[in-house]
Amino acid sequence: MSSLKWIETKNYDELSEIASDLFEQQIKQKPTSVIGLATGSTPIGLYNRLVERNKAGILTFKDVTTFNLDEYVGIDPNNKASYHYFMNEHLIDHIDIKKENTYIPEGHINDLEKACHVYEEQIQKSGGIDLQVLGIGVNGHIGFNEPGTSFDSLTHIVELTQSTIEANQKYFDKPEDMPKSAITMGIKTILQARKIILLISGESKQDAFSRLRTGEITEDFPASSLHLHPDVTVIYSGVK
Ligand code: PGA
Repeated sequence: MSSLKWIETKNYDELSEIASDLFEQQIKQKPTSVIGLATGSTPIGLYNRLVERNKAGILTFKDVTTFNLDEYVGIDPNNKASYHYFMNEHLIDHIDIKKENTYIPEGHINDLEKACHVYEEQIQKSGGIDLQVLGIGVNGHIGFNEPGTSFDSLTHIVELTQSTIEANQKYFDKPEDMPKSAITMGIKTILQARKIILLISGESKQDAFSRLRTGEITEDFPASSLHLHPDVTVIYSGVK
C-alpha cells in the first residue's frame, strides 16, 4: 500500500527550502551520507540553498558522496548541456565536497554496458544511497526511465521519448544536437535508496501529479513505482 507523504507548499521557494531542510537533516545525522542527485530545472532552488548553507558554514559536504541519476549518451562532460556540467555549475563546484566522491554516469565512453555495471557497483560499494532526490517528467519518467521501463531495471541505456526530447532540447544550442539516448539509474536502483524526495513544481506537471495521486501502480507510469517504496516524501507547488 502506498505510503507517500505529501507536502503542499505555497510556491517554488518554499518547496526548495523544505527540500534543503530535509537534505540538511540527513547530512547532519549522517555526515558520510550517500546522496542521489537529479538534474533539470526543479532542483535548482534546492541546490542554491545547499550552496548558501555550505558557504555560511551551516552544512559541510566534506564526507558526503553523490550519485547522479543520469547522463546523455555521447556527450562530452564539458558540453554545457551535459549533466556533468550542470552539476558542477549548480552544486559541486561551489561546495566543499571531494570531487572524487561525486559520481555521474559516464555517457561519453565507448563501452556503455560496462559503464552501467560499474555505476551499480560503485553505488553498492559506497554502501547504497541514503537519500535520493527526484524530479518527474511530464510523462511520469523518473531519472530517464521512460514509460514502459521495467520496475526491475538497474542502471541501463534508454532511448528517450519524443516528449522528453521536446522538454529538454531547449538546453542545446541547436535542438538537433540533443542526444536521443541516455544512461540512467534503473527503477530498481532508485527504489533501493533508503529515502526518496520527489519534487514536483509547476502546471506542466499537473497531469503527472494527478496520476501519481491516484495510487495506481503501472510500468506505463514510472513514477508510480514510488508507491512500492516505504519512505517517499513528495514536495509540490503549482499543482493541485
Ligand atoms: P524538470 O525535469 O525539473 O526540468 O522539469 C524533470 C524531469 O524531467 O525529470
